[in-house]
Amino acid sequence: MAKPPFAPKPPSRRPEPRPTESAREPRGPARPSGAAAPKRPMPAVLGPRRAEEQVGSLLVTDGWDDYRLLDMGEGEKLERYGDLVVVRPEPQAMGPRRLDPSAWAAAGAAFTGDVEEDGPGRWRTAEGIGTAWEMRVMGLPVVCRLTAFRHVGIFAEQIAHWTFMAERLKAHRGPDKPRLLNLFGYTGVASIVAAEAGAEVTHVDASRKSVAWGRENQALAGLDAAPIRWIVDDAVKFAERDIRRGKRYDGILLDPPRFGRGPEGEVWSLEADLPHLLDLTRQLLAPGPSFAVLTAYAIRASFLSIHEVTADLLGHRPGTISSGELAVRETGDPARPGRLLATSMYSRFIGA
Ligand SMILES: C[S@@+](CC[C@H](N)C(=O)[O-])C[C@H]1O[C@@H](n2cnc3c(N)ncnc32)[C@H](O)[C@@H]1O
Repeated sequence: MAKPPFAPKPPSRRPEPRPTESAREPRGPARPSGAAAPKRPMPAVLGPRRAEEQVGSLLVTDGWDDYRLLDMGEGEKLERYGDLVVVRPEPQAMGPRRLDPSAWAAAGAAFTGDVEEDGPGRWRTAEGIGTAWEMRVMGLPVVCRLTAFRHVGIFAEQIAHWTFMAERLKAHRGPDKPRLLNLFGYTGVASIVAAEAGAEVTHVDASRKSVAWGRENQALAGLDAAPIRWIVDDAVKFAERDIRRGKRYDGILLDPPRFGRGPEGEVWSLEADLPHLLDLTRQLLAPGPSFAVLTAYAIRASFLSIHEVTADLLGHRPGTISSGELAVRETGDPARPGRLLATSMYSRFIGA
């Protein structure tokens, strides 16, 4: 029998690195506890917490017309982005698959992780499938690509944050447009959603390629005239500079990778640098009903840890801090309620 084009790989495969992961983990001298030495000074806790705290929330998306999680299992997931069905590695998909193997075999592209000399190499595509295509997110067109790091330019679970953010920005009252800062902004989907919701957006990412992709998404959405500043910079350096310039934002999105590098090789390590980044966030947030949303992927920590550090640095203000996990519901089998796929952890601060 002919082998299906996308036969599952053995489950022992190791997960691929995230876009900006570096093999060299930035670390100071070893400490007796084995804990990472903080690279930047640990900020002081600012008095008693005044924000109301909610822990353990699940923010679940069932997907939308242009995005569905169809099935998962055996270390992979089957998703549809626009018209293209893709197979990608997924360490959280530990159970069995539900759909017939033919549904997986019919996918248009599968991430293999193979390194080939020519072409994108790390994807196997069916005949006639290119490496870029379009889909819609909250009514806006965005470009997807089969990237060498297994991602396609959009993290679908983040729609929970984007809808929340768009509502907050639209509800903003005041003479000026609300200002949104998108740090580690990647391909700019959140920036474009925010601009469409009426915000003046500052988008910061270390990667020229991601920023170019973001601009492409802006043009595709017909939002060329919308006020989005696209900045290639190290997120921490940029935030420090903005504090010196006296800038304030009504909303701040933080979507850092676990490890990353700024354009001049500045090292970012989520575990070591998050408190400092949250302290900068605190200083950049406008008083009143401003908000900050942090998402963390692929770290060895519970959402409770994310919650506590967010509450330490932002919780002295009245408002609410909620923390939990982002998840996607599988919707490929109409006969059975879909299982949930955990994707990441989050904390959200909303000022009163
Ligand atoms: C893929 S995105 C968002 C995180 C993602 N959701 C994940 O899976 O980790 C991470 C973005 O952070 C950017 N980045 C990494 N290090 C950075 C730094 N030091 N300053 C600014 N952007 C950085 C990368 O270029 C990338 O676009």
